[in-house]
Amino acid sequence: MSGVGHGKVILLGEHAVVHGTRALGAAIGRGAVADAAAADEDVLRVEPFGTEHRPGDGTPLGRAFEAALAALPASRPRLAVSARLELPAGAGLGSSAALGVAVLDACAEALGQPASRAFLAEAAFAWEQVFHGRPSGVDNTLAALGGVLCFRRGEAPERLHLRAPLSLVVAHSGAPGNTHDTVDRVARQLARDEGPTRKTIEAIGVLVDNAKLALEAGDLRSVGDMMNINQMLLASLMVSTPALESLCAIAREAGALGAKLTGGGGGGCMIALAPSGDGVLRALSAASSHAFQVEISA
Ligand code: MEV
Repeated sequence: MSGVGHGKVILLGEHAVVHGTRALGAAIGRGAVADAAAADEDVLRVEPFGTEHRPGDGTPLGRAFEAALAALPASRPRLAVSARLELPAGAGLGSSAALGVAVLDACAEALGQPASRAFLAEAAFAWEQVFHGRPSGVDNTLAALGGVLCFRRGEAPERLHLRAPLSLVVAHSGAPGNTHDTVDRVARQLARDEGPTRKTIEAIGVLVDNAKLALEAGDLRSVGDMMNINQMLLASLMVSTPALESLCAIAREAGALGAKLTGGGGGGCMIALAPSGDGVLRALSAASSHAFQVEISA
């Protein structure tokens, strides 16, 4: 497979990043891969769904494919793309962005014009808009660039150099999330109740800035504390669920330094910062439909 897009976790700052503050995110070792070749028509096949999509077919993936193709030279040959998603969709792990970046990467490669990762990050934004309506751009940026990034809309992403590797456990709450819906929900809360909601967003921004310093200093205890506070603020934005809250409590009880939902919420996954051993993974594996460990290297 020639095209690659990374999945991701948001360490802190989701939702607030849509409204202008920073977010900290890290690429994970699973994402999407794709291959493309000249063909009679533009077509996208996606596994494990076993589906086929074409520009103009009205499906979200057909529309996203059309948006991605618009970033390629108009005089190109038609392209058949086969993509494979290695992440669950609707889990907050950046599956749509990973797929978009992998598809664009493979198409550029098939045209004999390999794209820079910076181009892929930008071009995949239009793909993301099909799925998330009003994305900040953090997912497509992480899907293309990888690593650990501090992201703010409209600014060049800043690559973080961690003092020590980060050991996380990711656990699924059992219900899919819908980032489009939760982003809309927060936007409606901001319109309805502007003062307090703006304060919550700014408080999340302050947590992100402090967590960045703590990560660079290797102070994982403080990072964990800030993840816990971030989770309370996300709950006040109404994007958490009882299942996510319960998994966070189980993780903390089992020794995690911090735990919070990751990505859009309303379902999907949570993350736990668990530098010391398997206890957190065991506890979350018992409580969740799917839990796995992720090492973010320094
Ligand atoms: C999704 O990974 C993160 C959100 O902040 C949406 C976005 O930034 O586009 C919820």
